[in-house]
Amino acid sequence: MSTTSAHVQPERGKFITFEGIDGAGKSSHIDGLARFLRQRGLTVRTSREPGGTPLGEKLRELLLHEAMHLETEALLMFAARREHLDKIIEPALARGEWVLCDRFSDATYAYQSGGRGLDRAKFAQLERWVHAHLQPDLTLLFDLPSAVAGGRLAAQARVLDRFEQERADFHERVRLAYLERAAAAPARIRVIDADQPPDDVNEIIEKIISSYCS
Ligand code: TYD
Repeated sequence: MSTTSAHVQPERGKFITFEGIDGAGKSSHIDGLARFLRQRGLTVRTSREPGGTPLGEKLRELLLHEAMHLETEALLMFAARREHLDKIIEPALARGEWVLCDRFSDATYAYQSGGRGLDRAKFAQLERWVHAHLQPDLTLLFDLPSAVAGGRLAAQARVLDRFEQERADFHERVRLAYLERAAAAPARIRVIDADQPPDDVNEIIEKIISSYCS
């Protein structure tokens, strides 16, 4: 007589990404949302791009501080992403965990295409190669004028990285590219006005998530 073991697969977790120009303040809201979701009994994993794995963090160090060809930069973003998907994102989602990720492929479209001017068709190809079957379930886009974001960065007492040091017109192009992506995928990408006090932004995030969960 044969016995069958009832191996129940956990329900797949949700993949939520956070995007916006440098200085939009998204990073501080990731921990807040993680706490909010954990209080609801969910298992939450936070991560970031470029980075999230030991190899990815080494690539991040190079990407943020080393001068390189623009296409090298774009390819390294996807190389770090490939590793991140394999080692962290896919396994966590399969275990039923929620993954909150500080940036993902929308950032490559916004920065390397919008900001740097590379052909976005190349990224569509890389995206198909690296994550054909996975898109974020939800993306929170923190939007604000680049002049306001630049003022926030200038007020920080630390050395700015290669992207943060870019001129205002670079950040404005990045912002517009983000908004264009949001207009093309309104069901996935929710635009949040980040030019307001953190508590107000937090309230908006919790509302979006609550309606998303129900
Ligand atoms: P960021 O997410 O702003 O980290 P921190 O909040 O610690 O400064 O830094 C990552 C930088 O990498 C950011 O300036 C945008 C850039 N980036 C790209 O240009 N393309 C990408 O695909 C990703 C993921 C990030």
